[in-house]
Amino acid sequence: MDKFLIDGPCSIKGKVLISGSKNASLPILAATLLFDQPVIIKNLPRVKDINTMLNLLKSLGSKIILSKDKKTAKVINKKNMKTFASYSLVKTMRGSILVLGPLVAKYFKSKTSLPGGCLIGARPVNYHLAALKKLGMNYVIKDGYIIAKSKGRLKGRKIKFPKISVGATENSIIASCLAKGTTILKNCAIEPEIKDLTNFLNSAGANIIWSGRTCKIKGVNSLNHTEYSVMSDRIEAGTFCVAATLAKGNLEIKNLNPQIIKTELNLLKKAGAKIKTDNNKIFIKGPDKIKSIKNIKTKEFPGIPTDLQAQLMVLMCKAAGKSSITESIFENRFMHVAELRRLGAKINIKNNKAFIDGNTKFIGAELMSSDLRASVALVLAAIISNGKSHINRIYHLDRGYERIENKLKKIGVRIKRYK
Ligand code: UD1
Repeated sequence: MDKFLIDGPCSIKGKVLISGSKNASLPILAATLLFDQPVIIKNLPRVKDINTMLNLLKSLGSKIILSKDKKTAKVINKKNMKTFASYSLVKTMRGSILVLGPLVAKYFKSKTSLPGGCLIGARPVNYHLAALKKLGMNYVIKDGYIIAKSKGRLKGRKIKFPKISVGATENSIIASCLAKGTTILKNCAIEPEIKDLTNFLNSAGANIIWSGRTCKIKGVNSLNHTEYSVMSDRIEAGTFCVAATLAKGNLEIKNLNPQIIKTELNLLKKAGAKIKTDNNKIFIKGPDKIKSIKNIKTKEFPGIPTDLQAQLMVLMCKAAGKSSITESIFENRFMHVAELRRLGAKINIKNNKAFIDGNTKFIGAELMSSDLRASVALVLAAIISNGKSHINRIYHLDRGYERIENKLKKIGVRIKRYK
């Protein structure tokens, strides 16, 4: 299993090119199951979760032709696709549940493994199932599988989600594209990745209109060939912005529309970062002294993303004073805390709130990754620690960050991947 060795503290300076968004690519790739004609998806990030989704599509019968740099995929579906999404593929990535909606919408049946829980919480799929049922999907759960059927095409309905869910919104939008009639989804998640999904579907002839948290989808008979370039990864960009703020860095972050991380940039300004933005660039300089911020709270977009919570916690550990972070999306997303304590952090957890004492002097140590965003937080902490840190189980990082060590090396981080 690969590990990272980081020799801190490192100063950070230079340019970072942001890759395609993993969380936008996954639903877009799942939605290619709706197509009879070939589809071309560009700007895919070269990360493990994308391989998992491509393997899942292949197992369902899609032919995938990858470009040399593996960032563009041409997806060609067979006439008779399979509808069985196996446990062995779904268990490694919860995003696999996104094939359920398109399989039932297009092929009127599916046997899809239940994804199960993961370290950051129970993560049920009840909202996905309830919405798809309203559209006409009947299902039973047997032996860990969702066995689903519909009598012909799904039917457009009005659905209000009881709670905002990114995945349930995506699954329902994808499924509604080919439904008979109009679907109106209320209380939707409106993350930029979901807008990217609907832009993609509209580019292929779908009829989707947004108004606030309401999404109106007029069903069409079929979708047309399209070529679509996935948006850039706002969590990767946010992570590098935190890195610059944390390490008195000076970075030019390229290839991302700064508007989509406005909330995050405002928060980092409060912490003392100097930020300028251009069309597709962010210039960020970290302060000499980081200011503490009370009551940071993760929220659905346009709030502070839960996927940036662990990174912000490292920042607050270095701030001058006390701060707190409330995690309001996932019930158990503080696994990084125990590892950060091993580097010297002073953090107390009460329910879903972390109380952080600032002015931490991080000292390098051997660390263990637990999930994708927790692992990148450990990398950030190791960059500003005194001495060497070894980070184990970085396969978590490889799920969502494209060769992060290459990008970090370019900006001055002493980092090595080894077995
Ligand atoms: C997506 C992102 C993930 C991000 C999260 C929140 C992808 C591939 N993953 O995950 O990186 O952290 O959004 O921004 O895009 N819930 C239920 N029942 C459901 C669905 C969700 O109770 O049927 C709960 C979840 O357990 C969680 C909350 O709702 O507490 C939000 O989850 P959701 O927005 O669905 O997250 P994901 O789509 O799984």
